[in-house]
Amino acid sequence: MSAAPTWQACAGCGAEIPETDPHARCPHCRGLLEVRHRAPALSGNALRATFDARLGVRRGILASGVWRFAEAVLPTAAAQALSYPEGNTPLLASPAVAAWAGCGELLLKHEGHNPTGSFKDRGMTVGVTQARRIGAQAVACASTGNTAAALAAYAALAGLAALVIVPKGQVATGKLAQALAYGARTLLVRGSFDDCLELVDQASERLGVYLLNSVNPFRLEGQKTIVLELLQQLGWEPPDWIVVPAGNLGNTAAFGKALAEACAWGLIDRTPRLAAVQADGAAPFALSFREGFVRPHRVVPRTVATAINIGNPVSYERAARAVRETNGVVTAVSDAEILEAKAVVDGAGIGCEPASAAAAAGVRRLIAEGVIRPGERAVAVLTGHVLKDPEAITQYHQRLEPPPARANRPVEIEARLEEVERVIVEDRDLARVR
Ligand code: F0G
Repeated sequence: MSAAPTWQACAGCGAEIPETDPHARCPHCRGLLEVRHRAPALSGNALRATFDARLGVRRGILASGVWRFAEAVLPTAAAQALSYPEGNTPLLASPAVAAWAGCGELLLKHEGHNPTGSFKDRGMTVGVTQARRIGAQAVACASTGNTAAALAAYAALAGLAALVIVPKGQVATGKLAQALAYGARTLLVRGSFDDCLELVDQASERLGVYLLNSVNPFRLEGQKTIVLELLQQLGWEPPDWIVVPAGNLGNTAAFGKALAEACAWGLIDRTPRLAAVQADGAAPFALSFREGFVRPHRVVPRTVATAINIGNPVSYERAARAVRETNGVVTAVSDAEILEAKAVVDGAGIGCEPASAAAAAGVRRLIAEGVIRPGERAVAVLTGHVLKDPEAITQYHQRLEPPPARANRPVEIEARLEEVERVIVEDRDLARVR
C-alpha cells in the first residue's frame, strides 16, 4: 500500500485497504476508515505557492475551493472530479459580532456561501467523485438536513440515484425542500437522527448503495479544505483558535486532520487550537471532554439547533484525537445563547442558521471563561446559510412570552398611509429620517 500515493487505513484494527475499495467501513472489523496520503512532492513555501497560484483560476476544476487543494484532498481523483464548483467562501470581519462576543480579533468563515448553503458541499464533491470512481449506482445518507441537501444536489449533477433518510419533523424547512427539489428519494423516519444513521448504515451494506455520511472518509477529505482555505485567506498565518459547531463530529475530525497535515507538510508552523461547540441539550462530546475523554457518551438530544441535534456522534474517536492533538477544548452553550448569537449575526447583515450561531456563542462563552484570551485571534465557522431554517427566525422574532431581547417584531396594519406614518414616528431609527 505504501507505494500508492493514497490509501485507506482502519482506525480500529489498522488494516490498510486500497483507495478505491468500495467499503464505507473497514471490511475486517467495521471500524472507521481514514484516507492517508503520502506527503506531496512539494512542501512548505513551494506547496503554498502552488495553492496560491490557483487563486485566480476561474474555470475548470481548480476554480473549486476544494480541488484547488487537490494534493491534500485526493490527488489521484482531481481529473475525474465532479465539482459545482464549491468553497471559495468569505472570511468576514464583523465589528458588531466581535464586540458582542468580546473578541477583538474575530473572523467568520461563512460556509453558508456554498452552492447548497452549507459546508457539506465540500465533502460531497469528494464523496460523489469517489462514488463514481468505484462505479456506485446509488448514494445514501442519514441527515439532520444539510447533508441530505448536498447529497441530493451532487447526486443529481452526477446522474446517480439518491436516498436520504431524515428524522420526521426535525429537519429545517429549507433543507427538506432542497432534498425534494433536487430529486432525492426522501424517507421521513419516525425516530431520531441517530436512528436514521443506524438504519442507513445497515441499509447501505445490505442493499449495496454507497454510504455518504461522514462515516465515509472521503467526505472528511473535502471538509478539510475549510481549514486550508481559511489559512490561505490569512496568508498562511494561523489564527490562535478555530471554533466550530459540533454534532456528528465529522468537521471536528476533519479539522484536526487538516491541521496535522498542514503542519507536517510545512504549510503552517504552529497549530491553532480547536474549540468544538455543542448545544447543552445535545452535548455528549462536551461531557466526554470534561471527563478527559475516558469514554464516549450517548444522550437523548434536544436543541433548537436541529442540525446538531445528535446524541451519539459517529466520529467520536477521531474528533477526540483532533481536540487532544490541537490542545483544544469542547464546550456547550444553551439554546438561549445560540438564539441570541444568531440574532446578533443575523442583525449584522451576515446571517446563519442556528447550529452555526453556536460557534459565535461558543466564542463569547470561551472569552468570558478566560479560555480564549483578549488579543487572541479566533475564526468561527458559520456552517450554514440563514435561509436554511426560516421557522427559527420567524418564531424568534414573533415570540411574545417572553419577547426575546433582540426580537424584530413585524407590525400588521391596514392599507392606509397614516398607519405607515404612525409606525415611522414610533420607530427610533426610522424617525431620524424625517
Ligand atoms: N452545522 C451545520 C449547519 C450542520 O448541518 C452540521 C451537521 C453541523 C454544524 C455539525 O457538523 O456533524 O460534522 O459535527 N449536519 C449533519 C447533517 C449531521 O446531516 O447535515 P458535524
